[in-house]
Amino acid sequence: MLGIETSCDETAAAIVVRDEFGNSTILSNVVRSQLDEHAAFGGVVPELAARAHVTYLDHIIAQACREANVKLGDVDAIAATAGPGLVGGVLVGLTTAKALAAALDKPLIAVNHLEAHALTARLTNNVPFPYLMLLVSGGHSQFVLVRGVGDYERWGTTIDDALGEAFDKVAKLLSLGHPGGPAVEAIAKSGDKLRFKFPKPLLREQRLDFSFSGLKTAVRLQAEALAPLSNQDVADIAASFQHTVATIIEVRSRQALERFRAEFPNEPMRLVVAGGVAANRSIAAALDGLCRAVGADLIVPPIALCTDNGAMVAWAGAERFALGGHDGLDFVARPRWPLDLDDMKVTADGI
Ligand code: KG4
Ligand code: ZN
Repeated sequence: MLGIETSCDETAAAIVVRDEFGNSTILSNVVRSQLDEHAAFGGVVPELAARAHVTYLDHIIAQACREANVKLGDVDAIAATAGPGLVGGVLVGLTTAKALAAALDKPLIAVNHLEAHALTARLTNNVPFPYLMLLVSGGHSQFVLVRGVGDYERWGTTIDDALGEAFDKVAKLLSLGHPGGPAVEAIAKSGDKLRFKFPKPLLREQRLDFSFSGLKTAVRLQAEALAPLSNQDVADIAASFQHTVATIIEVRSRQALERFRAEFPNEPMRLVVAGGVAANRSIAAALDGLCRAVGADLIVPPIALCTDNGAMVAWAGAERFALGGHDGLDFVARPRWPLDLDDMKVTADGI
């Protein structure tokens, strides 16, 4: 299976094999991150992202085939992210996949990017259904119950910023550069996480949703009140922010696992983490402590597969293909495409 990913600022392609028992082999996984293109703007510029995908995608696909020692004509099907994401980029990947499928006479599989994140734990750890997924990336922060391929129920989401976005905004206001998550984590190491007490929006409510925009504003007000900031102030703010976020994630994950236990009393509790924020060691440590305390299995795929990549798209395509699924060449890109289709009705943005 060839997998193509272009929904944000990674141009990626991979060749993955899935055998009849559900075992996987990643033959190649090529990712070109566009950090340099967007660095000067402090965030991803959709038009620049789409143009870079146009420039590099062909070469990335060729490289993925070379590294896998596979000819394009030998793949069984072609999978590409068809949404949700920045539509210019999605169109580049999906249209390329359609052209290849038509020219090579292979089936096309239009993959939901969130489904690709959701199924990655099966690619890396062969995790059985059902499991709970916490997806924390630059675009999403949600709990999803994964019952099977194509069978998802969203239990909670952010009502404003995504968690990675909050890290990026905090980094920006502390002049730490983009992407912000790794920069905040690095400087937080030398900070005092208890110096500032930041709010934990929504946490008193029982719902499984997140809200990070009030926290980000509190961080901004604190930074403004202290300005000009010393290096120690920046480190202390970063550490206190990260500590607050880790607490929020831990409390919510505990509630989500309780719900999982109530709904599946005969299943082991399984928590799968996906998305770029999974790289954060302080959040990972909080989740690790929680899962040990409540007796849940914690599955965190290698970070290169938690962030956007082609292997997860190929794998999601392979899982669907194994069940007989594929799509027509008239499949229309979906900038908004919730995993749980019921959510389309209740949320304005659908993601
Ligand atoms: O999943 P991802 O690579 O891309 C998508 O958004 O789909 O996630 C990127 C996000 C960025 O917001 C980045 O700041 C955040 O993940 N991130 C981190 C860390 N590494 C990446 N956030 C906190 N701590 C990190 N170590
Ligand atoms: Zn993603």
